[in-house]
Amino acid sequence: MKIAIVTDRSRVDSIPLEERLKEDEQKRKTVEEIKKILSQKYNCISLVADDNIINQLKEENVDLVFNLCNGIQGDSKLAQLPALLEFAGIPYTGSSILGHTLAINKIYSSAIFQASNIPTPKFASIYDVDQLKDLDIDFPILIKPSDEGSSRGIHQDSLVFDMDSLVEKVSEELQVYNPPIMLNEYIEGREFSVCVMGNGEDVTVLPIQEIDLTNLPSNLKKFYSFEVKTYYKDKTVYHIPPRLSDEEIELMEDTVKQAYRVLGLRDYARVDIILKDGIPYVLEINSLPGLMKKKSALYRIAEVTDLGYDGLVLKIVDTAIKRYNLIDEAFDGPKIISI
Ligand SMILES: Nc1ncnc2c1ncn2[C@@H]1O[C@H](COP(=O)(O)OP(=O)(O)OP(=O)(O)O)[C@@H](O)[C@H]1O
Ligand SMILES: [Mg+2]
Repeated sequence: MKIAIVTDRSRVDSIPLEERLKEDEQKRKTVEEIKKILSQKYNCISLVADDNIINQLKEENVDLVFNLCNGIQGDSKLAQLPALLEFAGIPYTGSSILGHTLAINKIYSSAIFQASNIPTPKFASIYDVDQLKDLDIDFPILIKPSDEGSSRGIHQDSLVFDMDSLVEKVSEELQVYNPPIMLNEYIEGREFSVCVMGNGEDVTVLPIQEIDLTNLPSNLKKFYSFEVKTYYKDKTVYHIPPRLSDEEIELMEDTVKQAYRVLGLRDYARVDIILKDGIPYVLEINSLPGLMKKKSALYRIAEVTDLGYDGLVLKIVDTAIKRYNLIDEAFDGPKIISI
């Protein structure tokens, strides 16, 4: 079987420089590590998506794409490569067009969680600062782009406690990120990352990770902002297993599975949760969660299970293969029998 890892080109001109450099490094290292792992078992190449990607995949006789494309621009950028692949009939790992489109936009996914009685913070979508006059959310409020990741646009000053700071930060974010900007009721609680894998009846939750920010310097606000993810990783403590009772774990697992199903996700995802007063609030689902070695939540979680990091990457491929009924043959094996 031949697998192509496909990733995006750099988002030059789309996001601030500091955020872009970090994103580019994540991309490069993730592709490198995943290629190393998949090459042990498969014929594996890596490609950068451009207008010609489908022709390239066909010329290379690729059986399966390991999708690592977050997309460059547009309100459904995460779904663009899956859309091309589906049109061309090329199988790929992870969620479909529908799942990615719903998950990437936190306003749509939050509305769906709310309608499905899955706890999620109160939210508002803002196109214009004038809308802030009629706001129905109490302070503190967290301001975030509606469709970014890795805390791009979620900086220390994104958590605001009064109207003046809210207006200032929203005006700034409206200039930089794809409108609307999302406002979130700030839930002060304990934070968890939960990885789900599988499809249909066979959906499992991996050990839960707790993110402990109590060791951050006292001048920093204690949420997982861009600054904390970038400069204070060494002050962040990850507890796997988390410090939770069996009942709390069960509640969190059920909530996460519901959230995964209600967005129609496939193969694997990571759910971010804040637990407050016994309620697991779903902040968002990452339908294409980071997989970087040593740095990502999925890496840390996989490393405490029998899978290990290599096993996790191979399991993502296995899960997709099973879903498509492909034949899993190492190097030069039979081609696709059905998709
Ligand atoms: N409503 C909220 N209440 C409390 N904290 C929040 C809330 N929303 C976000 N946060 C904090 O901000 C962090 C980043 O938010 P979010 O997960 O929405 O962004 P992201 O950029 O999609 O993150 P990533 O893609 O890295 O998971 C969260 O991990 C959490 O610490
Ligand atoms: Mg998140």
